[in-house]
Amino acid sequence: MTNVKVTKRATDIEYAIRDVIVHTQDLIKNGRKIHYLNIGDPAAFDFKTPAYVKAALCKAIDEDNNYYSPSEGRPELREAIVKKEKRVNNVDISADKVIVTDGISEGIEMLMAAIVEKGDDILFPGPTYSPYIAYTKFFEGTPVAYETIENECWVPNIDDLRRKVSEKTKAIVITNPNNPTGAVYSEKCLKEIIDVAGEYDLPIISDEIYDQLTYEKDFISTAALTDDVPVIGLNGFSKVYQMTGWRLGYMYFKGQEKILENLRLGVEKQCRIRLCANTPVQIAGAAALNGPQGFVKGIVEKLKQRRDYAYKRLNEIEGFSTTKPEGAFYIFPKISDASIGKSWKNDQEFVLELLKETGVLIVNGSGFDPVYGKDHVRIVFLPPIDELEQAFDAIEEFMKSEKKKPVLRRVGRG
Ligand SMILES: Cc1ncc(COP(=O)(O)O)c(C=O)c1O
Repeated sequence: MTNVKVTKRATDIEYAIRDVIVHTQDLIKNGRKIHYLNIGDPAAFDFKTPAYVKAALCKAIDEDNNYYSPSEGRPELREAIVKKEKRVNNVDISADKVIVTDGISEGIEMLMAAIVEKGDDILFPGPTYSPYIAYTKFFEGTPVAYETIENECWVPNIDDLRRKVSEKTKAIVITNPNNPTGAVYSEKCLKEIIDVAGEYDLPIISDEIYDQLTYEKDFISTAALTDDVPVIGLNGFSKVYQMTGWRLGYMYFKGQEKILENLRLGVEKQCRIRLCANTPVQIAGAAALNGPQGFVKGIVEKLKQRRDYAYKRLNEIEGFSTTKPEGAFYIFPKISDASIGKSWKNDQEFVLELLKETGVLIVNGSGFDPVYGKDHVRIVFLPPIDELEQAFDAIEEFMKSEKKKPVLRRVGRG
């Protein structure tokens, strides 16, 4: 035997946020310090899981809650999610329409497995969180990006969305607040998307994992704005409760039962074959939602300072233009037209050169959509300001030194 066969669907998987890490290995071997600004993991920086949540997890384990749970999730957690969605997002749902997953990531996979048949289209904002693209392709569907307009703070272009609906379209995805752009959608914008979905009888998949992490603008949940159009809301504990490594998320189904029932059952069946989400973590998740929520304000204040710092620094560096993120913890600058195609072939080459020269690891924008994300990069602004300062100093130096290099050498590299 020369080779064990691997499927095309597995070979073709791309996840730019982690794919770039491979390129750090040689640098690390040579003793290089890496500034990890590629993964949106608050718990890896100075945002720590609240103490009462950690205590709840230890207690759950000590009290021997180490068995399997019901596949759709523990009843007390599903109830806590119902209350949280009402309290925070003004969304009315019932516990039997909530499904608990090992993070939203698992929810995206299950949802796409239940919705997408070969040749189906899924509409998503360009750029978007890449698993929506990857899982659509995995199930042999076609990811179709609708434009979001950069110089209007990345607001969805509703005309483009409407133009891209076809008889093959199966769902419209919204990521609000958006990763990677940090856009927070207004009520008007969400209502327009709901109108398009209603017009064409499409469900909306609304990923709201950064719901409580917005700066000047208030977050509005899609499901709070409609009772008619079916909404599948996705949310989790990774970003607000800093439980990234614990892997806990949920989805809920809001809309007429007869329209959504089959889809929900399709997801529930998948839940059964993967048995259940982590039992002690579910108990801690319920404690997280039912416990004191005051810490969230502190997180937002800290993040806002870091957002302001990142925005200021990027505006001062020649070669970038950037919009101010309104939520989440990513900034998505454009590399100037004068640099792309001259100094660097594309955004991916920019990211790899930057890593090689400075040890700063960021993600190529094309990894979030090949059309609307290209020529951009995504930078995580989670680290404390002194660490951000080091990284931005290095980026600034890199941009300056690239400018000094003779054009011929730069073109030759492309
Ligand atoms: C929009 C969005 N959805 C989902 C996730 C992943 O969530 P989880 O940790 O719950 O799998 C991320 C992580 O960066 C994200 O940005």
